[in-house]
Amino acid sequence: MKVFQDRIRRFFFPPSDSPRWILVLPYAVVIVLGLSLFGGGIPAWEYTNSTEFCGTACHTMPPENTAYLRSAHLNVTCEECHVGRAPFFTQFTRKTGGLRELYSMTFNLYEYPIQAHRLQPAVDTCEKCHRPDTLSGEKLLTIAHFGDTLTNPQTNIGLIMKTGGGTELDGYGTGIHWHTQNQVYYYATDSLDQAIPYVRLVNDDGSLTEFVDIDSGFNVSNLDEALLKQMDCTTCHNRITHNFEIPADSVDESMARGAISPEIPGIHKRAVEVLSTPYETRAEAMKAIDELEEYYKSTSYYPGNGDQIHAATEEMKAIYDRTVFHDQKVDWTTHPNNIGHFNSAGCYRCHDGKHLNNQDQAIRMECNLCHSIPAVSNEMDLVTRLEIDNRTQPESHLNPNWINLHYRSFNYTCAKCHTIQDLGGVSNTSFCSNSACHGSVFTFAGFDSQTLHEILESQIPTPPPTP
Ligand code: HEC
Ligand code: HEC
Ligand code: HEC
Ligand code: HEC
Ligand code: HEC
Ligand code: HEC
Repeated sequence: MKVFQDRIRRFFFPPSDSPRWILVLPYAVVIVLGLSLFGGGIPAWEYTNSTEFCGTACHTMPPENTAYLRSAHLNVTCEECHVGRAPFFTQFTRKTGGLRELYSMTFNLYEYPIQAHRLQPAVDTCEKCHRPDTLSGEKLLTIAHFGDTLTNPQTNIGLIMKTGGGTELDGYGTGIHWHTQNQVYYYATDSLDQAIPYVRLVNDDGSLTEFVDIDSGFNVSNLDEALLKQMDCTTCHNRITHNFEIPADSVDESMARGAISPEIPGIHKRAVEVLSTPYETRAEAMKAIDELEEYYKSTSYYPGNGDQIHAATEEMKAIYDRTVFHDQKVDWTTHPNNIGHFNSAGCYRCHDGKHLNNQDQAIRMECNLCHSIPAVSNEMDLVTRLEIDNRTQPESHLNPNWINLHYRSFNYTCAKCHTIQDLGGVSNTSFCSNSACHGSVFTFAGFDSQTLHEILESQIPTPPPTP
């Protein structure tokens, strides 16, 4: 051993009277070794950053990769969101943090379905490409829905999303992206952040406003500050790039594109039913879809329309294959999307009307806070009227609890501004009979909260004297 060490030392530190080539040799060796390590290392490092490696090397990834391949971020690499744009050494330390995942994977220590728990903060990922202060303006959405009768009647819901944002300096600072310019913290009781009993807002003057879900039984004095999370892009955009849509939405979307023809009698109801059924294996699901095709073969609609029906069932198989993954135990129920408030709590995790501050004011849930009052139209309507002007709202409407008060406040004055035919109905014949409002099921809103009704009793405006 001693001899070996001596030789190494002599090699790197030769006596100064040695021939020149012996003096140069150690440098040459170091340079050649370094170059070859570097040369091999860079491609290897690059490879571990590639979507090919991240998306296909592991057996865990097919669900995320499949969704990614259909997303707007197809040209963004996995690493740009999961490690973040950063200098090499920062990326390196973040990635070695990922060695824990590699370890879990090698020794089968993970559990399906895989859920994200330690995503980099959005400032290091999303915000490297999207400047939050520029997310201003509004966005028109038209969502098509099909009915469950034989003719699959189509209705469209028009919404202007008040994406807003920007900074107050520029005269914006309102709307949905207001959250990215203001500090909102929350405490969640589950690992997917679906149940949020406590929300804290830091006001401009540094004071705090605390909101508590009045039905949660949450006691603020037991709050562990260390468990508070700050809202960022992924609090809402949690399924960005990896969205597993619910069957009803997938079928509506395919029908709107004509991939499932709306001409096929009763196809909406049947397709949603078949795709919503849980199956033990993929083969069973494919069999159920084939049986639907067989069913249509036995109907009088089939002759001449066979291709159309076959195309529809092929599309259903494609929907299944991008939203249900048996091996990874992933489907549309395991990864709820936080944008919206019908399929899962989404925005209503906080904006459900029963997260109150100490003044009994709710985190607002007025429909026109986030989007215009939904405008429902069908194929018979020539124009869709989207209302976007809310400048003339009377005092009563500015109460943060207005949406929970409005149906207890109705009086003759309402008709000065609103059409009131079929009051509270779903006929879409007036402002007060909007089917998107009264015909929707608000599972995640606080409309039925008895405690809330009692608290709001004192806030119902006194009716004006009858003329
Ligand atoms: C545009 C940004 C973005 C890109 C690009 C992206 N992801 Fe994700 N990924 C996310 C977000 C956001 C989450 C969910 C975070 C959460 O739920 O809190 C996530 C979650 C995941 C999860 C955890 C399981 C889950 O579905 O929540 C896996 C695994 C994953 N991504 C793999 C990948 C792979 C593989 C790629 C590339 C093929 C990729 N991601 C590309 C943003 C991205
Ligand atoms: C490397 C740059 C990059 C990163 C990182 C990135 N995005 Fe994007 N994002 C884009 C580009 C480019 C588009 C526009 C794609 C298009 O319209 O074709 C886009 C589109 C979007 C859209 C609109 C399209 C849609 O699918 O709804 C949203 C929302 C969005 N990004 C949110 C995010 C969030 C949230 C993150 C972080 C988890 C993120 N982005 C990370 C570049 C990026
Ligand atoms: C973690 C809790 C939380 C979640 C989740 C949340 N918000 Fe908020 N939001 C707040 C709080 C707190 C306020 C401030 C109180 C208020 O304005 O009533 C607020 C205010 C707003 C405002 C008003 C901003 C302004 O102009 O003053 C809009 C618009 C909004 N949220 C939209 C949304 C949308 C859309 C979603 C879902 C995609 C959502 N929020 C999800 C907590 C939340
Ligand atoms: C309070 C929830 C919430 C937060 C926080 C949030 N967003 Fe959004 N964002 C939305 C909603 C809702 C929309 C409208 C989406 C729709 O309906 O298509 C949207 C739309 C967008 C769009 C598309 C805009 C357009 O006009 O097409 C981009 C890009 C985007 N968000 C990026 C971001 C980024 C980046 C962040 C973080 C800095 C962020 N968002 C934070 C809820 C949020
Ligand atoms: C805190 C923000 C917020 C509030 C308050 C809110 N919404 Fe929404 N709403 C959203 C978002 C976000 C979406 C999803 C848009 C998308 O699909 O990209 C949505 C979607 C919808 C849709 C379309 C859903 C679909 O698939 O057809 C309807 C209808 C709707 N909202 C009705 C209402 C009504 C009625 C109220 C008032 C009781 C209300 N919303 C209050 C944020 C909100
Ligand atoms: C001076 C005119 C005026 C009067 C009077 C009036 N409203 Fe309104 N109301 C408005 C405007 C403007 C809006 C916003 C419409 C929009 O955003 O498209 C509105 C919106 C609403 C909304 C939807 C709020 C939301 O969640 O977005 C309801 C519900 C409502 N009014 C009920 C009533 C009732 C009940 C009365 C009678 C007690 C009444 N209004 C009296 C002008 C009025």
